[in-house]
Amino acid sequence: MSVTDWEGMGIMRLSNRVCLITGAGKGIGAATAKVFAAEGAWVEMGDVDVEAVRQTAEEILLAGGKASWQQVDVTDELSVAKWEQMVMERHDCVDVVFNNAGISAVGELHEVSRELWDRVVAVNLTGVYLVSKAFIPEMMEQRKGVIINMSSCIATSGLLRRAAYAATKGAVLSMTKSMQVDYAPYGIRVNALLPGTIYTPFVEDYLKRAYDNPSVAIAQLKQRQLGGELGTPDDVAYAALYLACDESKYVLGSGLVVDGGVTAGKPF
Ligand SMILES: NC(=O)c1ccc[n+]([C@@H]2O[C@H](COP(=O)([O-])OP(=O)(O)OC[C@H]3O[C@@H](n4cnc5c(N)ncnc54)[C@H](O)[C@@H]3O)[C@@H](O)[C@H]2O)c1
Repeated sequence: MSVTDWEGMGIMRLSNRVCLITGAGKGIGAATAKVFAAEGAWVEMGDVDVEAVRQTAEEILLAGGKASWQQVDVTDELSVAKWEQMVMERHDCVDVVFNNAGISAVGELHEVSRELWDRVVAVNLTGVYLVSKAFIPEMMEQRKGVIINMSSCIATSGLLRRAAYAATKGAVLSMTKSMQVDYAPYGIRVNALLPGTIYTPFVEDYLKRAYDNPSVAIAQLKQRQLGGELGTPDDVAYAALYLACDESKYVLGSGLVVDGGVTAGKPF
């Protein structure tokens, strides 16, 4: 569904809310930015890939949405601080922070270089810490806010050659629950998203690098899903929308699974 399809329907779940999304240049982050903007949000988009995030923001602006973009590296405290300053110059409130930016790390644990381990921990885990740390004081002062942390269904069930990546996503899920305990008294809700295999540039790149014939790999991946299909970025974007809006006001400290049934059971 495009941004324009929503116009005039009167269903604006995020009207005038300021929603921050990291990794908003591509994949799930870009899809979520478009869905949030279509729901009336002003999306503040950060990504290390400045060209990608600029392009996504321009698509939203062209469709009549509200968006700003900034080059942000979630692993860099100064870069995050600069983003926080720019966002707070534009707005007097922050409603939603979606900690989405992430990278993959593939290999059995003994094959994972120290460099790759440090990098995946820095982006997927420390990035969530740094961005949350920067904006939580605003939310505490406002006594309201929503934080959505990107975990993965790999946090709760193992997958071949993903130990380093899984370590970061498991940590994000446990961090989410303890953050919720800390910030519930301030009216802040903190939840995690646990997607399965979502067909994004992230998965596309991996398939191209890891398989001689990516279409065979896609067919195998589809067989793993109870629904027989891979997820789309929109499947996760609408789950993020649910967690971001008031309809989920009773959902605190949860991990919302969006995985085509892959963790429910094996199809054969
Ligand atoms: N695609 C899947 O199957 C899947 C499944 C479960 C969880 N996830 C998680 O969802 C999130 C988004 O994944 P995606 O598939 O959309 O990936 P993607 O690669 O398509 O997009 C990720 C975006 O994050 C940005 N990014 C990377 N490092 C960054 C940094 N240091 N600072 C700021 N931005 C940075 C990239 O430039 C990119 O635009 C990730 O956290 C990923 O681990 C993805």
